[in-house]
Amino acid sequence: MHALLTGQWNADEAHRWRTALQQACPGWQWHEDLTDAAAAQAIEVAVVANPPPGRLLGLPRLRLIQSLWAGVDRLLADASLPAGVPIARMVDPAMTQAMVQTALWAALSLHRGYFAYQDRQRAGQWQVHRQRRADEVQVLVLGAGVLGSAVAKALSQQGYVVCSWRLQGAAAPDLPVLLGQSQIVINLLPLTPATRGLLNAAFFAQLPRAASIVNLARGAHVVDEDLLAALASGQLRHAVLDVFHTEPLPPEHPFWRHRQVTMLPHAAALTDERSAAQVVAAQLARLQRAEPVQHLVLRDRGY
Ligand code: NAP
Ligand code: GLV
Repeated sequence: MHALLTGQWNADEAHRWRTALQQACPGWQWHEDLTDAAAAQAIEVAVVANPPPGRLLGLPRLRLIQSLWAGVDRLLADASLPAGVPIARMVDPAMTQAMVQTALWAALSLHRGYFAYQDRQRAGQWQVHRQRRADEVQVLVLGAGVLGSAVAKALSQQGYVVCSWRLQGAAAPDLPVLLGQSQIVINLLPLTPATRGLLNAAFFAQLPRAASIVNLARGAHVVDEDLLAALASGQLRHAVLDVFHTEPLPPEHPFWRHRQVTMLPHAAALTDERSAAQVVAAQLARLQRAEPVQHLVLRDRGY
């Protein structure tokens, strides 16, 4: 059985993925270079990490595209993606745990004022601020999928008042009501036409004054100019940003040196090749047993 492994990696990353998948999936032959026409004819599965557009053309036996990323917005943006071939996204407990850790760090730092204490240290100031209890802080988690629901559960366990917002569900509460009550918003939505630019001036204006946002999903969810204006006016106190419109963030972007912005270099929850290779192996085994593969993307919904 033949599989294609394709992504935009450096040589070291490519080596780690190749090794992990070869070990986890004995019986599968992995191809990275399709200059051999016979190999292209034999490929049944493509395991992909945002491949360049057009990379999955000319694979007549392809029957599964398995993403190594949880978010498939960049993959779906490839207009040449073969129609009718199922796409599965990455759902990996190690990635979920990493995302929970990042979200907890951000929420705890905002709630307890640790970012402000960092500033005071640099300024040589020994000054304590009032310590609020977790149950005095409402956190809104946008997205109640694999990652959002795990984050919401972990925050509840810390004592926060947690509410979630999702697309479906009869009891889906009204977003404006939730925004009006939440001091911290954590974004874990997929990037789709419906969610692009959602975190804009109108969104920020509905939050209580001096609220904070944490964007761990995609940069294009945020309108950067609106965020900068909301920080400048005091409507927002702080933003924790892991993801950006352009990555790496251009050196001239104001976020780099903004006192009220804490940045990560898209590192909230990386795909761990050791655990992700096991996820891929389980998917390939399902395919071979003619069982349904898991975590399929609905292309028309965009996630
Ligand atoms: P998921 O399981 O597919 O969950 C998506 C959630 O978003 C679902 O609850 C869905 O609602 C909700 N949703 C989608 N469109 C919506 C809309 N228009 N309005 C309201 N709710 C909407 O996805 P996931 O695995 O949790 O991942 C979420 C995102 O995290 C990924 O798409 C990716 O962009 C990002 N991510 C970032 C990193 C990082 O390192 N920064 C790592 C991994 C993932 P329903 O439940 O009603 O369908
Ligand atoms: C990372 O951002 C992912 O979608 O896996």
